[in-house]
Amino acid sequence: MANVVVVGAQWGDEGKGKIVDWLSERADVIARFQGGHNAGHTLVIDGEVYKLHALPSGVVRRGKLSVIGNGVVLDPWHLVKEIAGIRAQGVEITPETLMIAENTPLILPFHGELDRARENQNAVAKIGTTGRGIGPAYEDKVGRRVIRVADLADDATLVTRVERALVHHNALRNGLGLEPIDRDALLDSLRDIAPQILPYAAPVWKVLAEKRAQGKRILFEGAQGALLDIDFGTYPFVTSSNVIAGQAATGTGMGPSAVGYTLGIVKAYTTRVGEGPFPTELHDEDGQRLGERGHEFGTTTGRKRRCGWFDACLVRQTCAISGIAGIALTKLDVLDGFETLKICTGYELDGARLDYLPTASDKQARCTPVYEELPGWSETTAGARSWAELPANAIKYVRRVEELIGCPVAMLSTSPERDDTILVRDPFAD
Ligand code: IMP
Repeated sequence: MANVVVVGAQWGDEGKGKIVDWLSERADVIARFQGGHNAGHTLVIDGEVYKLHALPSGVVRRGKLSVIGNGVVLDPWHLVKEIAGIRAQGVEITPETLMIAENTPLILPFHGELDRARENQNAVAKIGTTGRGIGPAYEDKVGRRVIRVADLADDATLVTRVERALVHHNALRNGLGLEPIDRDALLDSLRDIAPQILPYAAPVWKVLAEKRAQGKRILFEGAQGALLDIDFGTYPFVTSSNVIAGQAATGTGMGPSAVGYTLGIVKAYTTRVGEGPFPTELHDEDGQRLGERGHEFGTTTGRKRRCGWFDACLVRQTCAISGIAGIALTKLDVLDGFETLKICTGYELDGARLDYLPTASDKQARCTPVYEELPGWSETTAGARSWAELPANAIKYVRRVEELIGCPVAMLSTSPERDDTILVRDPFAD
């Protein structure tokens, strides 16, 4: 049985929410495997809008198991609030429908404080993070001082873990001019939240192995996008987790063979929030138009997204790194009405032509895009549900994207509505 992993192939915000929701109807289990509540997935189901950050998109679908894997960093106070908000919209969430891996690291309030303090320190340190404490929590995970979900169950362990974390954090806070952490208040708040989290705690690796043995379909739901990957993204302007498809296995406790098909989500143009290189960024009317037509404001922070032309060179690169077998192309309708469209096919650097984005920051900053121009279309593509409904130039644009990235379109999304989708290949088909 083919399991599917969905990953962003640009800088996030590619429209994963809708595609994951569409696929989750066909899946039995939906698993998050990295990131945290820095993500923002918007689902529109029968006119009702659900905004999810930490919860897997499967929670809004009856009869599905949603899983938060060990690769995620979890803010327990945020999760409890998010669950309450989704419940208020009439969705049932129980320990039968939501499981959290016992080895999931927790984001604590001082992680958020540290994240924001560093961001505000000076322009050199600024990454443009979401301020949610994601980076500091992952640092503590690899620093072997993080508190994990299972630690909430035993007070003696919790005390030891907190003390271990505070040795490091109080020294750091002292250097940054922040007050030391109130140990007792932190312990009390962890003891208070524990009973609201522990019912969902489970050995997720085991549950997933059983589901796999039963032939259940698993959908791995990625957050952010490959260019924000800690190893392969535009470092240091990245998030602190591996977001590429390989992480689906380690972030849940399954072997790599558990993933049958990798679907990359690709927006028909490019956006990015936060700092960092962006070769095809537009500072002109075209960029403004993309932002306005595409409603390009962050779901999590409300920040205005930077916009630019489609960068086929970058997507070719991320398709290779994530092993993407097919893409879901989203927001094609935002390009409706442009007289001419540009696609970046490579870069020029110091007089040479490059067919990939180099790793060194200084080189990334000096790369200038090489564009190919395509004629636009005046008709609307919004809401199209078949190729026949698309203008000839829109089809040409899609075909050229496929050629340049070396990967076929499996799905084409033409509006936020779930049924406004052209399906070429069902990712769950064997
Ligand atoms: P962090 O993940 O909050 O540490 O932020 C690091 C970088 O990743 C910043 O540039 C953020 O804007 C970006 N980022 C984090 N999550 C998302 C997301 O879900 N969509 C788009 N960008 C994101």
